[in-house]
Amino acid sequence: MFDFAELKTSYKSKGCGQITADDIGKSVKLAGWIESIRDHGGVKFIDLVDITGEIQVIFRADDGATEEITEWSTVQIEGEVRRRPEGTENPKIKTGNVEVIAKSLKVLSKSELPPFLPTERKEVSEEIRLKYRYIDLRREKMRRNIIGRHLVSKSIREKMWEEGFVEIETPYLTKSTPEGARDFLVPSRLQLGKFYALPQSPQLFKQILQISGFERYFQIVRCFRDEDLRADRQPEFTQVDIEMSFVTEEDIISLTERVLKHAFKKVLDIEVSIPFPRIKYSESIRRYGTDKPDTRIPIEVKDISEIFSNSKLDFIRKNLERRGKVLGFSIRDIEIPKSKLVNLESLAKSMGAGGLMWFVIKQNKIISSPVIKHIDDKENLEISKLCDGNGIVFAISDREERARDVSAKLIKYIAKEMNLYRSDTKFAFVWVVEFPLFSWDETENRYVSEHHPFTSPKEEDLEILETNPEKVRARAYDIVLNGEEIGGGSIRIHNSELQNKIFRILKLSDWEVQERFGWFLEALKYGAPPHGGIALGLDRLVAIMFGEDNIREVIPFPKTQSGSCLLTNAPSDVYKKQLDELGIKIKEE
Ligand code: AMO
Repeated sequence: MFDFAELKTSYKSKGCGQITADDIGKSVKLAGWIESIRDHGGVKFIDLVDITGEIQVIFRADDGATEEITEWSTVQIEGEVRRRPEGTENPKIKTGNVEVIAKSLKVLSKSELPPFLPTERKEVSEEIRLKYRYIDLRREKMRRNIIGRHLVSKSIREKMWEEGFVEIETPYLTKSTPEGARDFLVPSRLQLGKFYALPQSPQLFKQILQISGFERYFQIVRCFRDEDLRADRQPEFTQVDIEMSFVTEEDIISLTERVLKHAFKKVLDIEVSIPFPRIKYSESIRRYGTDKPDTRIPIEVKDISEIFSNSKLDFIRKNLERRGKVLGFSIRDIEIPKSKLVNLESLAKSMGAGGLMWFVIKQNKIISSPVIKHIDDKENLEISKLCDGNGIVFAISDREERARDVSAKLIKYIAKEMNLYRSDTKFAFVWVVEFPLFSWDETENRYVSEHHPFTSPKEEDLEILETNPEKVRARAYDIVLNGEEIGGGSIRIHNSELQNKIFRILKLSDWEVQERFGWFLEALKYGAPPHGGIALGLDRLVAIMFGEDNIREVIPFPKTQSGSCLLTNAPSDVYKKQLDELGIKIKEE
C-alpha cells in the first residue's frame, strides 16, 4: 500500500521487501527481524522482515551461523540474490520469486520469546496487545492502519496546501475552551495555585487567526477532553482543524467535500461522489431517531402511536396519556429466531427503554409476539402493513426522546449483526444541517450551546433569540459517515455585541464572561472578518476508512477505557518533591 523510498543505511543496501528480480546475481546487505526459522535437514530457511516486507533467506547448516539465533532477533545478513527454483515461488508475497543465499549473519540483538507472535492468527487480548504495543505494532494489520493513517494525513495536507491554507500551530498550554467536556489541567510552577488547561480544541485561537488576517488556517492537531471513553472517544485525539474568512456555510461544506474526496481517492482509490446529501437536523431525528444517521441502512423510525390509540395494553395507554409515543421500525422479509428477539428486548432495556415489543408477520398477519393476546384484528392488520405483510415490526412505547434514541441504537445494532446495509454504497456521507443553537439542560436548569457558544444563529432567527431561544437554528453543520459523526463546524459570530448576548442567554455572569472570554470579546472589536470553519475527527475518519470499529486500532499508543496507558502505566504517582514545587497536596480520602 505504501511505496517506501529505498531504505538504504550503513546496515543495509535496501529493504527486505524491496528486493526484486533485478537484484538476481547481486550481493545484498540486509537488516531486520527474523519472523520464522524452518529447518529442512541440512538447510535453514529464514523469513527476514523489515518495514518494507519480507524475504526468504537460505543458510546451509554447515555454516553453523544459525545455531544461536532465535525468532524475532534483529540480525544483519549478507548474501547473494537468486531466482527461486521453479515450483517454490510464493505468489502471496512481493518478493516471492527471489531468495537470498546467505554468506554471513550477525546477531544485532537477541530476542526472548515474545508474549505473543506478531504473526499469530488467533485473537490476543487487548490488554496484552496494549501492554506490549511494540509487538502488536509489528502485526501486519496494525502496520497497515498506522501507515494508512499517515497517508490520510498526508493527502489532507497536500489538498489543504493546494487550496491555499497555511498550517499554523496553536498552544497546548492554554485557557479552557468550552467544547462541552471537562478540561485536563496543568499546574503552573511559576505561578503557584494557577493552572493551564489543555485545549479541548483550538477553537478560539483559530478564530483569533482570522482576526489576525490569515484567512485560511488549518492544523492537524491533538485535542484533549476529559470525558467518558467509548469506542469512538479517546482523551487525546486528533482533529483536522480548519478556519476560513469571508465565507458562508457553502464555502466550508464544499471545501470539506473536496478534501474528503481527495483523501479517499489517494488512499483507497475510491471515487466518492460530491456534493454529499444533506438532511435537516429535525428531519434526521424524525426519520432516523438520531442526528448521526447511517444512510446505508434502509430502515426508518415511524411514529405508530395512532395504531395503538385504543390499545388494551395498560402501559401503552398510560404512556400515550402522558404524551409519550409508540415508535416502531420494520424489517421486511426477514426471519429472526425467538431467542434472538428476546435478547434484543434485553438489549433495548439496557439502552434505557422500558421494553421492546416485536411482531413476527407472515402473509399479512402477526404470527408471534409477546403481546399478541392484547392485539385486536384492526391493530393486527395495521401493524402487518408496516412491513408489507411479511417480516418483523419492532415497537417501543416510551417518552418520545427515549423511544427514538433506543430505536436508533437498535436499528444500528441489528443492521450490523444481520448485515442489512444497502449494497450500492460502502461509504455513506451525509451533512446534518440546521441544528438548534441551544438545548435545555435539565440538571443545570439553563440553555447550553448545542455546538459551542461561538456558533452564529441563523439571521432569520435573530429576532426570536431572546424570546424563543429553543426555536433558534444555528449556522452549524455536522458531517456523518456510516452513522458516525466525523466532523462538525459552523459559521461564527463575528460581532462582540451578539457574542455577549449569547453568553447572557447561556446564563454566564458578567464576571464569568469577562474572566473567561474578555480577551476574546476585546479581539472581536478590531475588525473581525465574517468567518467559519470545521474540525474533522481524524481518528474516526481513518478507523472507518480501514473498516475498524474502534479508534484504538488506528492510534499507535491509545488509552484504555479507564484512561490508562498500559505500556507506560500512566497516569502514575509523582514524587512529593514535584508536588511541593507546584504547591499541591493530595487530599487523603
Ligand atoms: P467537535 O467537538 O464537534 O467540534 O469536534 C470535532 C470532531 O472531533 C471528533 N471528536 C473526537 N474524536 C475522538 N475522541 C474524542 N473524545 C472526540 N471528540 C470529538 C469528532 C468530532 O466531530 N471546535 C469545534 C469545531 C469547529 O466548530 O470548527 C470542535 O471541536 O469526529
